[in-house]
Amino acid sequence: MKQLAGLMVAFWLFLVGSLRAGVAQELRFPPNRIAVVGAGIGGSSAAYFLRQKFGKHVQIDLFEKGEVGGRLATVDMEGGQYEAGGSVIHPLNLHMKTFVKELGLSVRAPSDSLVGIHNGEDFVFQESHWFIVNIVKMLWRYGLNFLRMYMWVEDMLDKFMRIYRYQTFDYSFSTTESLLHALGGNDFMTKLNVTVDEALQRAGFSQKFIDEIVTPAMRVNYNQGVKINGFVGAVSLAGTDSGLWSVEGGNKLVCTGLVYSSKAQLIQGTVTSMQEKVRPLKSGGTVKLYELSYETSAGPGLEMYDIVVIATPLNKDVSNISFLGFNPPIHTFSKRYQQTVATFVHGQLNSSFFGCSSPCRFEVSEILTTDNPKLFFSSVGAVSPVKAKSESEASQSAESLKVWKVFSPEPLTKDQLDLLFKSHHAVSEKKWLAYPLYSPPEKMPPVILHDRIYYVNSIELAASAMEMSAISAKNVALLAHHRWYGKDGQIDQEDLTERLKSEL
Ligand SMILES: Cc1cc2nc3c(=O)[nH]c(=O)nc-3n(C[C@H](O)[C@H](O)[C@H](O)COP(=O)(O)OP(=O)(O)OC[C@H]3O[C@@H](n4cnc5c(N)ncnc54)[C@H](O)[C@@H]3O)c2cc1C
Ligand SMILES: *[C@@H]1O[C@H](CO)[C@@H](O)[C@H](O)[C@H]1NC(C)=O
Ligand SMILES: *[C@@H]1O[C@H](CO)[C@@H](O)[C@H](O)[C@H]1NC(C)=O
Ligand SMILES: *[C@@H]1O[C@H](CO)[C@@H](O)[C@H](O)[C@H]1NC(C)=O
Repeated sequence: MKQLAGLMVAFWLFLVGSLRAGVAQELRFPPNRIAVVGAGIGGSSAAYFLRQKFGKHVQIDLFEKGEVGGRLATVDMEGGQYEAGGSVIHPLNLHMKTFVKELGLSVRAPSDSLVGIHNGEDFVFQESHWFIVNIVKMLWRYGLNFLRMYMWVEDMLDKFMRIYRYQTFDYSFSTTESLLHALGGNDFMTKLNVTVDEALQRAGFSQKFIDEIVTPAMRVNYNQGVKINGFVGAVSLAGTDSGLWSVEGGNKLVCTGLVYSSKAQLIQGTVTSMQEKVRPLKSGGTVKLYELSYETSAGPGLEMYDIVVIATPLNKDVSNISFLGFNPPIHTFSKRYQQTVATFVHGQLNSSFFGCSSPCRFEVSEILTTDNPKLFFSSVGAVSPVKAKSESEASQSAESLKVWKVFSPEPLTKDQLDLLFKSHHAVSEKKWLAYPLYSPPEKMPPVILHDRIYYVNSIELAASAMEMSAISAKNVALLAHHRWYGKDGQIDQEDLTERLKSEL
C-alpha cells in the first residue's frame, strides 16, 4: 500500500514535472533570427546588446541603406576628416565610454576654444584666456545664474545616471515614458511638457541669461531656440559642461566596432516593408514570423524573423517603411525633423562682420548666436580633424588658416559665405534631417510597435543624442529578451531605486 502510494506520488511528480518542462521549453526556446534596421549608434549597439542577451546561436541581420554610423559621419576636406554629425560626448555618457574602452579605441579631447556670443550686431559675451576674468564677467552680467544652471543640470544628471544601475540589474521598460519616469519621476515628465524657456523661468533664471546663454546653447546643439522641451534643453545644457570628448579617428568607429563585435551579418539594403506571416513548423504546429522586404543593388529580397528592432526614425522623409496588414495599424510618425546644414570652410573669418573692426582683438574661435531672425546661421566654430596629423604636416599647417564648421538651417549662399569669410578656398557641405523639431508637450511614440517589433528611436522625442540611442538600444535588447522568455518581473518595475538599495 505504502509502495503504491509512493509510486503514485512519483508518477504525479513525473506528470507535473514533464508538463512544466514542456511549457517552459516552449517559452525558453531561443529565437532563431533577429533583424535590426539601421546601423547608426542605435542599431549597432542594439546588435551588440542583443548578442549579449540572446547568446551566440541567434542569427542577427543588420540592414543599412547608407553608411554604418548613420548620423555619425565625417566629411573629407583637403585630406582631413571632420565630424559632420554627432560630435561631442559627455564625460558621464557611460555606454559610449564603455564601448570605446572595449573596442580598443582612443579618446580625442576637443581643442581649447574661447566662446563668443553674438547677437547679430555685437558680441554680448566673450570668454577670455583668464579664468578669473571669466568669473568676474559672468558674475557681473548674469549674477549667480551660471552657478544655478550648473546645479539645475547636475540635479538632472544625478537622476538620469540611475539608468546605468537599472540596466546593470537587467531592468527594462516598455515605454519611453515609463523609462524616464523611473529615473526622474514627475520632474522628468513635466520637463517633457513645457519648453525649456518655461522650465528655466519657473526655476528662477533671468530672461537675460536665457536669451544670451541658454538660447545659443540650444541653437548650436539642436539648431532650434528655447521652445524645445525642457528635457532636451537640459541635455543640451549638459553639453556646455567641461570634459567633453570624441573618438580618435571619428565617432562612427564605435558603430563599425560594435557591428564587428556583435557578429551581426550586415546587409547593405533598404528595408521597404514588413508584415506578419504564419508558418508551419517541421514538428507540427505553426509559428508567427515577420517578413521583411528590402532592396539591394542586386535586386529585391525577403527574409523572415522572430524579432525585429527598428533603429531609425520612423518618419516618411527619413525611413519610409510600410507596415502591411497590422491590426491595429502601425503608422510612420508625423513628427518632422529639423534640417541642419553643416558647412566646412577653410578660410579666414570676416571679423568686421562680427562688429570687430580693425584694429580689433579677435580671439574667440567658437561663435554662438542669440535668436535674431536676421542671422542666417546658428553657430561658427573652428574644428580640427578626427585624426591628429603627423608632426611634419602639423608644422606645415600651424600657420595656415583654420577650418570652420558653420551650422545653419538652410545651405549657405555664395553671398553669405562672402559675408562670413574674408577669404576661403575650400568648402564642403553636409545636409541633415538632424533631430526632431521639438514642440512640447511631447508625446513619445511606442517602444513596442507590435508583439515582437521594437522601436529604439522612440527616445529621440525626449532628446536626441548618441548616448540616448545607446540607452534605448540596451533597453530594447533587455525588453525583447524578457518578453521572449516571459520574465515580467524585469519590466516596468516601480521604486527601483529603493529596491536596488536593499538588494546590495
Ligand atoms: C549635425 C548634428 C549634430 C549632432 N551633435 C551631437 C553631439 O554633439 N552629441 C550627441 O550625442 N549627439 C549629437 N547629435 C545627435 C546624434 O548624432 C543622433 O542622436 C544619433 O547619432 C542617432 O543615432 P541613431 O542610430 O538613433 O540614428 P541614425 O544615426 O540616423 O541611424 C539610422 C540608420 O538607419 C539607416 N536607415 C534608415 N532607414 C533605413 C531603411 N529603410 N533600411 C535600412 N536602413 C535604413 C540610415 O541610413 C542610418 O544609417 C547630432 C546630430 C546631428 C545631425
Ligand atoms: C503632460 O501632458 C499630457 C498631455 O499632453 C498629460 O496627459 C500629462 O498628465 C502631463 N504630465 C505632467 C507631469 O504634467
Ligand atoms: C514611401 O514608400 C511608398 C511605397 O513604397 C511610396 O509610394 C512613397 O512615395 C514613399 N514616400 C516617400 C516620401 O519617399
Ligand atoms: C565683411 O563684413 C562686412 C560687414 O558686414 C561687409 O561689409 C563686408 O562686405 C564683408 N566681407 C569682406 C570680404 O570684408
